[in-house]
Amino acid sequence: MSFTIVEQVPARGNRCELAVPGSRPELFEKAAKSAADVIFLDLEDAVAPDRKEQARKNIIQGLRDVDFGRKTVSLRINGLDTPYMYRDVVDVLEQGGERLDLIMIPKAGTAADIYALDLLVTQIEAAMGRRKRIGFEMIIETALGMQNVEEIAAASPRNESLHFGVADYAASIGARTTGIGGPHPDYGVLTDPAEDGSRDYHWGDMWHYAIARMVVAARANGLRPIDGPFGDFSDPDGFKAHAGRAAVMGCEGKWAIHPSQIELANEVYSPSEAEVAKARRILEAMEQAQKEGKGAVALDGKLIDIASIKQAENMVRLAEQIGND
Ligand code: COA
Ligand code: MG
Repeated sequence: MSFTIVEQVPARGNRCELAVPGSRPELFEKAAKSAADVIFLDLEDAVAPDRKEQARKNIIQGLRDVDFGRKTVSLRINGLDTPYMYRDVVDVLEQGGERLDLIMIPKAGTAADIYALDLLVTQIEAAMGRRKRIGFEMIIETALGMQNVEEIAAASPRNESLHFGVADYAASIGARTTGIGGPHPDYGVLTDPAEDGSRDYHWGDMWHYAIARMVVAARANGLRPIDGPFGDFSDPDGFKAHAGRAAVMGCEGKWAIHPSQIELANEVYSPSEAEVAKARRILEAMEQAQKEGKGAVALDGKLIDIASIKQAENMVRLAEQIGND
């Protein structure tokens, strides 16, 4: 193990993060009563430019009036390159009470972006005597942000999570797709011809590299990696497949852009009873192995070793946190 210890951010359920446009305040109560772990109230791309000011007022009112219970509540501010961003932060933090937990930073490009926002938030917190420290979640959705993802992840002690913003990322890198997430029919491999001349075409996951890179940067800094939106909310099977492959790659949750996606995300990102039971058996078997002075043993005909303990502990911790153990 390295002498550098990676500090984990405080545990927070993040299986499903529901997007709620700030311009639709009638949705705030519904979101608060939903099964999403995190709600982000949006001032950015779901709000048209001429509605920004009213959306800000709606969110301030909503943060004061709506009972969000034990949910984590986040605010997606406008980008640092817009004329709205400073007022999003100043007005909501000064007038929205103490309920807000996180600020979501879109199109994070460099560590200096995070530093600039940290400066502003720190000033407001001190001036207002706020008791709860605001955390940051960064969307990695540009070529610049992906290039600098390691420094962004390490830029502030407020940082809690990295999110993959697939649609803006596609636009930024010039990818040939107009969908929001999901596979592309042209991204695949054609197998060599079999003896009878037949060939298969296998679709691939064009987002694999981006997700994998973001997951590494997040985990190396103790942050949660979260997969972003899947736009086709009338395709639950597509959503589940997309969520499942990000979960396998290390993501802890996914966005929902429609309430029908909430249960799907919760299902994919909650460990099943069988997985949790297996993790507990691994921990028991390894405890026994260590008593006997062994570093590796067989369980159900498969090798388990000391690395298996960490994986099993992660699984059990997640189950305990979401009350599914
Ligand atoms: N949060 C909470 N409730 C929501 C919701 C949301 N984001 N989106 C829809 N609902 C509610 C609707 O009010 C409706 O409630 P009802 O049954 O009481 O009438 C129900 O869920 C079904 O909604 P539906 O009529 O199918 O959707 P819609 O046409 O009202 O809205 C969208 C569809 C996609 C425009 C809307 O879901 C939305 O704005 N999603 C968020 C998009 C966003 O923020 N994108 C930015 C990040 S990528
Ligand atoms: Mg975006």
